[in-house]
This record gives sequence, structure tokens and C-alpha cells, in this order.
Amino acid sequence: MSKADLFLDKKRRGEKIVVVTAYDAPTARIEVEAGVDIILVGDSVGVNVLGYAHEREVTLADMAHHIAAVRRGAPDVYLIGDLPFATYDTPEQALTSSRLLRDAGADCVKFEGAQPDVVAALTAAGFDVCGHLGLESQHQEVKRRQGKTAAAAAKLLDDALAGDAAGQKFLVLELVPRELAARISRSVRAATIGIGAGPDVDGQVLVVNDLAGVTTRDFKHNRRYADIGAALRAAVGAYAAEVRAGAFPGPAQSFHMAEDERAAFER
Ligand code: KIV
Ligand code: NA
Repeated sequence: MSKADLFLDKKRRGEKIVVVTAYDAPTARIEVEAGVDIILVGDSVGVNVLGYAHEREVTLADMAHHIAAVRRGAPDVYLIGDLPFATYDTPEQALTSSRLLRDAGADCVKFEGAQPDVVAALTAAGFDVCGHLGLESQHQEVKRRQGKTAAAAAKLLDDALAGDAAGQKFLVLELVPRELAARISRSVRAATIGIGAGPDVDGQVLVVNDLAGVTTRDFKHNRRYADIGAALRAAVGAYAAEVRAGAFPGPAQSFHMAEDERAAFER
């Protein structure tokens, strides 16, 4: 039984699957301590951490670098890694790219869009695959909700079923109407993981920077559970003020020479 089957069992039992992104070791460690089920190292690392303007700038080397960091911080967690833009155009390319992410520590690889041939090739090679439908950041310039018309929804459902037939274990549904996400979740074997897809899915994922309040933008799909950005700004501001005032470091942060060494040194 593969680790992914544990999550398919959760789906069958109606237990929600908790997924969150991480891009570095300490955040991954904290997330495991907080009890998450799965960590996603998304290509959202590009915009959230690396300062890129678009997901499309993220490279396989970037992904491997951050997957390895997360794996060091969370040795046992089930880790899904994103295949970045233009690294899965053919099944062969997807295989080569996925091996790199697996070697870095990924248990499962995720890619955007309907490419059942890629899902089938990766599954046949022993990879766990996570599909990703709805908003596809790599493929859309303007980030808008998808599947709003009956025809668009029917197409998305078809794509979800095709990915399922090809063996996907998970399916991320991003910014699609609640009704469509519910219908897909009932129709596929894969565990659906929603983001802006309503509550009737098998699990949820959020970007950690969004839920923790590091991101300055507000997204309708997000809920801020903390204001880490404000806390960090205040901490650094207080440090700067104390340095300038000569109040930091104080006696507690200073080190001393042994008395005889000091006397010899100052002679
Ligand atoms: O890159 C990412 O963080 C993602 C999630 C938004 C699902 O793909
Ligand atoms: Na992504």
C-alpha cells in the first residue's frame, strides 16, 4: 500500500485532508508540529519567496532546491512537489523532470492541466501524481476563476475524469465554483484538494504566506489566521531602534574574557 492510499482512505471515510505549502525547512518543521497531513512545495515559491513576477520563471533547479529544504525540515511528511512551467510537455520530459523532484525528496508530483498521457506515464513509472485543474497559474496571464459556465464546467469534469482514469492520486481544484468542485469530488477516485473551491472537497490547501499574513494582498479564497508580516516588521523595527539607541546588545547578550586573560590582554 502506497502512502497516498492512506489519503484515499481518508476520502472514503469523509475525513478532511489538510494541505499547506512550505518552501523552507523551519516552516515545514512547524507545519508538521501543527499536524498537517501533506506539505505542498508549490511553484508559488517563485512569487512568494524568490521575488519572481510570475510562476513561469520557476525552474526545476528552484523546485529541487526548495523541496530538499522542506524534506530536511520534515523528514517523514508526505510531500507533493510542483513540476514547473514547460517541464512536462511530453511524457518523456515529465519523467525526467519528476525523477529530479523525487531525488530531491518529493513523494508525489503535481502538474497543471489535462494531460492524461503524462499522468499515465508517470503512474506507470511508479510516481504518485497530483492533477491540478481550474486556475492554472503557469498557463494564465490573468488569474481568474474557471469553470463558471455549464460548458466550461462540463469540460473541467471531463478533464478530471480523464486524469482519474490515467491514475492520478490527488487532484487540486483551484478557484472553481463550489458546485463544480463538489460534483468532481463525488465523481473521481482521487482525493480532491480545493483552494477557493468551497468546502465540498476532500481536502484544502492554502499558501502558508497567505494564511499566516506574510502576503500583503488579500484574496477572497484565503483566511488570515495570523499577522506574521506585522509581527516581523515590529520585531525588526524594535531591533533597529534599540541598535540606534545603544540599547542592544545589553549585558545579557555580551561575552566576557576570563579575568586573567583580560588583564594580560590589557597590559
Ligand atoms: O503552487 C502552489 O502553491 C499551488 C497551490 C496554489 C495549489 O499550486
Ligand atoms: Na502551483
